[in-house]
Amino acid sequence: MSRMLESCILEHIQESRILGDPLEVCRMKPKPTKESITIMSHLMMPADANTVGFVHGGVILKLVDIISYICASKHSGKYCVTASIDRVNFLQPIRIGELVILYASVNYVGNTSMEVGVRVEAENLRSGKRRHTNSCYVTMVSVSNKGKPIKAPKVIPQTKEEKLRYEEAEKRRKERLMKKAKI
Ligand SMILES: CC(C)(COP(=O)(O)OP(=O)(O)OC[C@H]1O[C@@H](n2cnc3c(N)ncnc32)[C@H](O)[C@@H]1OP(=O)(O)O)[C@@H](O)C(=O)NCCC(=O)NCCS
Repeated sequence: MSRMLESCILEHIQESRILGDPLEVCRMKPKPTKESITIMSHLMMPADANTVGFVHGGVILKLVDIISYICASKHSGKYCVTASIDRVNFLQPIRIGELVILYASVNYVGNTSMEVGVRVEAENLRSGKRRHTNSCYVTMVSVSNKGKPIKAPKVIPQTKEEKLRYEEAEKRRKERLMKKAKI
């Protein structure tokens, strides 16, 4: 058993003693990354673009926000809100008629917050050719019905790639917290 998995399980056992309620204990059980991986596609229409046919960045950001919400909610089983979106670079323009495909997964879970990694690709439906147009990291926070942050279950990365993303996300979280403390 990996050390990461072992520490997740130990933490869950300790939390279970505090939580008591069996249903809540079950909900808080650490979940493998793969359980909340989300894929979404959206056809770019004229209303999504400017006068020369290029899709607005805001349209892509909205889709990024939606997929992050789905992915974080699937993982936590709770309502989630967007706390922040890290810097987004638009690498290539997307045109009307292209299919935008988004992939999202929970990279890391802090206490109540989750880092969701989103990759965006654009597909030309006639040629089938796909281009990577941007990637970004979104911090989602699981909240109660009253909008107060509540604990999210830990995530268990299993593949080599997921473990790498987990470690990198942990570093980014530290940087974000340092930046936030300076504001
Ligand atoms: C996000 C929100 C719930 C945080 O509430 P808060 O009272 O500041 O709570 P906390 O300071 O305890 O932070 C809760 C978690 O969010 C994280 N967080 C808060 N602001 C953050 C930010 N700007 N970037 C990254 N993470 C952030 C904290 O690090 C903490 O994570 P942890 O529990 O894993 O350690 C609150 O600010 C909010 O409701 N914001 C509006 C959300 C919204 O409407 N989004 C849509 C955009 S219009």
